[in-house]
Amino acid sequence: MPDLAQALAAADRQFEGARERLFDLVRIPSISTDPAHAADCERAARKLVDDLGGLGFSASVRPTAGRPMVVAHHGPKASGKKVPHFLFYGHYDVQPADPLDLWKTPPFEPVLRTDKDGVSRMYGRGTADDKGQLMTFVEAARAWLAAGELPVRVTFLLEGEEESGSPSLIPFLKANKEELSCDAAFVCDTNMWDARTPAITTRLRGLVHEEVTVTGPRVDLHSGMYGGPAMNPIRALSRLIAALHDRNGRVTIPGFYDGVAELPKATRKQWQALKFSESRFMREIGLKAPAGEWGRGVLEQIWARPTAEVNGIWGGYTGAGTKTVLPSKAHAKFTFRLVGKQDPKKILRSFQAFARAQMPVDCKIDFSGRGGGNPATEIPEDNPFIGRSAAALKDEFGRAAVLMGSGGSIPICRYFKDILGMDSILVGFGLGDDAIHSPNEKYDLESFRRGIRSWVRIMAALAR
Ligand code: BES
Ligand code: MN
Repeated sequence: MPDLAQALAAADRQFEGARERLFDLVRIPSISTDPAHAADCERAARKLVDDLGGLGFSASVRPTAGRPMVVAHHGPKASGKKVPHFLFYGHYDVQPADPLDLWKTPPFEPVLRTDKDGVSRMYGRGTADDKGQLMTFVEAARAWLAAGELPVRVTFLLEGEEESGSPSLIPFLKANKEELSCDAAFVCDTNMWDARTPAITTRLRGLVHEEVTVTGPRVDLHSGMYGGPAMNPIRALSRLIAALHDRNGRVTIPGFYDGVAELPKATRKQWQALKFSESRFMREIGLKAPAGEWGRGVLEQIWARPTAEVNGIWGGYTGAGTKTVLPSKAHAKFTFRLVGKQDPKKILRSFQAFARAQMPVDCKIDFSGRGGGNPATEIPEDNPFIGRSAAALKDEFGRAAVLMGSGGSIPICRYFKDILGMDSILVGFGLGDDAIHSPNEKYDLESFRRGIRSWVRIMAALAR
């Protein structure tokens, strides 16, 4: 095995190229939620396979019912003793870039810019989530190979529909169980604690989607001729939305909190020690008062409590000028973030029953969500690979890694455990203010560089 110093030197030497390769990937608008971009997703998958093939990986584009997966294997030739084998996961799909007019530079034309604070950042959709992050382990492998060979066997699994809730994942994992089962899975799609402090995430929330249509009168009506007697479906929908939370920010759906446990004392203490500034967090998003459950801290609200959110609402006339219409239909999209043992199917059923019960006589409600959803994930903090990764991160950053939670969802973590029997170790190099899913998504060059170097070190630590 080549030594760590050589591999780190190779990573530094190749860093300029790494940024260019990331930019090439960002230029492909692989938006998985929009069918119009299906061919771009194929293109991104193909490009990754070509690059990995060039590095000596046995890499393939693997079709699914949705967007393709990329699977690639490489590792030292069997030398008698068993070489440990790890899976590395990232996703090459991105969220839609709109509203486009809020971007300072086009989302799929990545640029490197030094901001007023003196920090050099790469701007573009996917620079952080998750193209920049998946490139950290790809480039770490490139560095090891430049120095000689990989210290462990690696399998890369790069998904193309994480941002659409991973609909093809379960059948894909089941069909390729043998090929994808490793000693553990590393997932690179989360954040650091801050720019100087690395982190390993041990909790993720689950997620359920639903979309509703409320129908009142048979057709759109003149609001003067019918306003009064005719029930307005926007009014009924607004009532439903307003009824979802009580005045203390608690969700009112019956049974919603079943399976939600109170934080263990030790965890509460651990989080308090992080000295998280709630006021700064709120200030940075232009707000003052946390709107979650009253009496619970911001970190607890994000990392350990469930939510009910409206993500969009439409109906009636929203064009320029006025129109005195009393609409026939009103629509809204909802999501629920789940924690602990909350069951996605049960949450969906309870919401539907609750929503139906809110409807007045003359409104009917239909549910058009695709169902599904995924439960929350918790990884035991005594997992030995967490310990080894934390040590490698400390070597790179000169600071201990924080064990933290995250409010986001990465459906695969739960399925790695349930289908392949592997724990997921979530080592991410994003920052809270990367603006992922928002206009002007960015990724700072230094986090990218340290991410690559960290994986170089983690791969070495895994060989021991
Ligand atoms: N990388 C994010 C999740 C994330 C963000 C974890 C920040 C930790 C910190 C992931 O790509 C994502 O956005 N997932 C979606 C899931 C989905 C659409 C099923 C999410 O959480 O909204
Ligand atoms: Mn992501």
